[in-house]
Amino acid sequence: MLLQIKDLKVNYAGLEIVRGIDLDVDKGECCGLIGESGCGKTTVGLSITKLIPERKGNILAGEILFEGRDTLKLTSEELRGIRGKKISYVFQEPFSSLNPVFTIYEQIRESLEEKDNPDARIADILKNVGLEKIIGRKNIYPHELSGGMQQRAMIGMAIASRPDLLVLDEPTTALDVTVQRQILELIMELKNKMNLAIIFISHDLRIVFNIADKIAIMYAGSIIECGPKGKIASNPAHPYTIGLIDSIPSLEHRKKLFNAIGGKAPLFSELPQGCKFYPRCRFRIDKCLEKEPELENVSHGHVSRCIRIGDIVRAENRHNLQA
Ligand SMILES: Nc1ncnc2c1ncn2[C@@H]1O[C@H](COP(=O)(O)OP(=O)(O)OP(=O)(O)O)[C@@H](O)[C@H]1O
Ligand code: SF4
Ligand SMILES: [Mg+2]
Repeated sequence: MLLQIKDLKVNYAGLEIVRGIDLDVDKGECCGLIGESGCGKTTVGLSITKLIPERKGNILAGEILFEGRDTLKLTSEELRGIRGKKISYVFQEPFSSLNPVFTIYEQIRESLEEKDNPDARIADILKNVGLEKIIGRKNIYPHELSGGMQQRAMIGMAIASRPDLLVLDEPTTALDVTVQRQILELIMELKNKMNLAIIFISHDLRIVFNIADKIAIMYAGSIIECGPKGKIASNPAHPYTIGLIDSIPSLEHRKKLFNAIGGKAPLFSELPQGCKFYPRCRFRIDKCLEKEPELENVSHGHVSRCIRIGDIVRAENRHNLQA
């Protein structure tokens, strides 16, 4: 296993924001991490290389094993040898991630794992990310590129070090739909060519269904369901996931058992007792308030944090679950 996150906990200002996350990502595997805004997705991604701002009140607990070594125990120097090298990031806003005062050529050169004779390698990277047009044009600055081209340049910088793991945090959210599709295709192509492991963070389940092999769904700082894409799509086993799937307009073949999820995610300062999804769940029963459910097996490699898994899976098959 390339990456194993074990019982990760992150506190911000005394509040537990990431509440015990376990997640494995294998070489060449794309894991989609999805959930509503504020549920802790970015915090999980940043924790992998300890990018969480270390200041009073921020505590990390758990283990993050990357190639068998716990990144949370590495020194700053050791982390610098991994961050942006073996583990690269691409964020939502390409323009704010690119440095406006350096050329694209200079920024890719900075990210190269091998600094000698960079021109051929930079040309190769530009070709790989579909920026053939600017090969050899060493004086192009970020502002001269469109948003989609800037994101291609960011991806070029991220792969320049030949990483094993890419963390893509909403990499297409700022782009229009056509460009979004092209960037997703590029990511898939690079993943296959380079046998890259990817953590693809998104709030959009539709995008994640297109790109991921495995999907982890987060709610209020923990994973509430995780499994291979096919199982999540055909046999969702948590009411929150079912609500997310039913809010995807294109999946019309699914019977509309559940309306889109009503209500709002709870504040971390006011988490409910027991199941954190209780206030919004159409299938809640009093027992759900007793304690927070553990992740339970639904089938091989597929887990859900709901005490009514059996009822929900059976009802999904029969299309007649009563709340
Ligand atoms: N530096 C910080 N200090 C205090 N709280 C923070 C800080 N950064 C994030 N938070 C809180 O931590 C929670 C998780 O934030 P995070 O950015 O990881 O969520 P997210 O799932 O990535 O959301 P989004 O989809 O909006 O990007 C949020 O409720 C946020 O308010
Ligand atoms: S444990 Fe209860 S409240 Fe929570 S998701 Fe399952 S049915 Fe709903
Ligand atoms: Mg985020």
